[in-house]
Amino acid sequence: MGRHLLVTGGCGFIGSNFVRFVLTHRPDWSVTNLDCLSYSGNLENLADLEGDARYEFVRGDIRDRELVEKLVERCDAVVHFAAESHVDRSIMDSRPFVETNVLGTQTLLEAARKHVGEGGGGKRFVHVSTDEVYGSLPLDRPDLKFTEATPLHTNSPYSASKAGSDLLVGAYHHTFGLDAVITRCSNNFGPYQFPEKVIPLFVTNLIEGKKVPLYGDGKNVRDWLHVDDHCEAVLTVLEKGRSGEVYNIGGNNERSNLELTHAILQIMGKGSQMIQPVADRLGHDRRYAIDASKIRRELGWAPTRSAWPRALEQTVQWYVKNTRWWQRVKSGEYRRYYEQQYGKR
Ligand code: NAD
Ligand code: TYD
Repeated sequence: MGRHLLVTGGCGFIGSNFVRFVLTHRPDWSVTNLDCLSYSGNLENLADLEGDARYEFVRGDIRDRELVEKLVERCDAVVHFAAESHVDRSIMDSRPFVETNVLGTQTLLEAARKHVGEGGGGKRFVHVSTDEVYGSLPLDRPDLKFTEATPLHTNSPYSASKAGSDLLVGAYHHTFGLDAVITRCSNNFGPYQFPEKVIPLFVTNLIEGKKVPLYGDGKNVRDWLHVDDHCEAVLTVLEKGRSGEVYNIGGNNERSNLELTHAILQIMGKGSQMIQPVADRLGHDRRYAIDASKIRRELGWAPTRSAWPRALEQTVQWYVKNTRWWQRVKSGEYRRYYEQQYGKR
């Protein structure tokens, strides 16, 4: 029989791709999507699932205890994506990050704890975290990568709040026996990413004839993973991951921001005069790189959709083709969709 998932943050970039991925690859499963529609939550990301009996959207906050208890009660497992996710916003104001990422996760854990039996277990709780909790790697040591044993060393308010939530998940497993698993993933790219993150921001700026703001010297390195590879990895961990474990997920695809920017410019037929060097991000982590050998060894997962240049070209083309989607996001128009779609119900 199919499983019923409670997915949090399913109207965001990765959550919406995950809901679609699950319903495509596990056709007898169903999903309840709990999302408060913060600035990055967009119902249009899953407009194709409206009317699908396997899919239910609930507008609500993961800090709402009563609602969360009711939804956890009805599901077989929780996959938790909802978060404040952008480093630059956390530098401007860290409070929503603590409120959603720490308190929101605690609220979900507390609801899940109520279903733990005497021998532990209960409903499986997959907590989607980030490689940013490990801090920053030096550029001159390409041999170093983050493993699951790397100590947490957070540098931004965003990563600090994610690490806080990771520690709570570990505590609920250890203390109450909750069947919880943590995933830590590198930078994602793909369709439906909010155009404040570097790839959709740069592509959409170039379409609009604007320059692309490159922070600092552009030498910072990120390990890029296609969102569908991430979704497949999360589903694998949900189905096969060992309780209480952490699994790193990465693309084995390290690129400097300069390399990324030139690749985007080339795909779009633009010259390097479109680069606008700007002041560096405060506390900017130099390099992230994931050692994903544990998930490969234990669960047999490896990325198959992330190889450049093809995967990057496909993503750039998605934004070129779907101008209506991101123009509505950039103009704020996408927020009206909820009223049109649900206002009269
Ligand atoms: P996103 O900002 O695109 O989506 C976040 C979603 O959570 C939005 O739909 C938003 O409305 C919802 N949300 C926010 N606060 C909420 C609340 N209090 N209650 C209910 N819903 C709420 O983020 P994303 O890029 O899709 O990231 C999803 C998860 O993956 C996050 O936990 C993030 O830390 C993690 N992650 C992201 C990346 C990446 O490259 N984007 C990499 C590794 C890990
Ligand atoms: P981002 O997409 O914000 O992801 P993260 O900070 O979580 O890794 O940024 C990716 C890289 O791109 C990061 O090194 C910062 C850099 N960057 C720019 O150079 N300019 C920009 O306008 C943005 C948003 C990011």
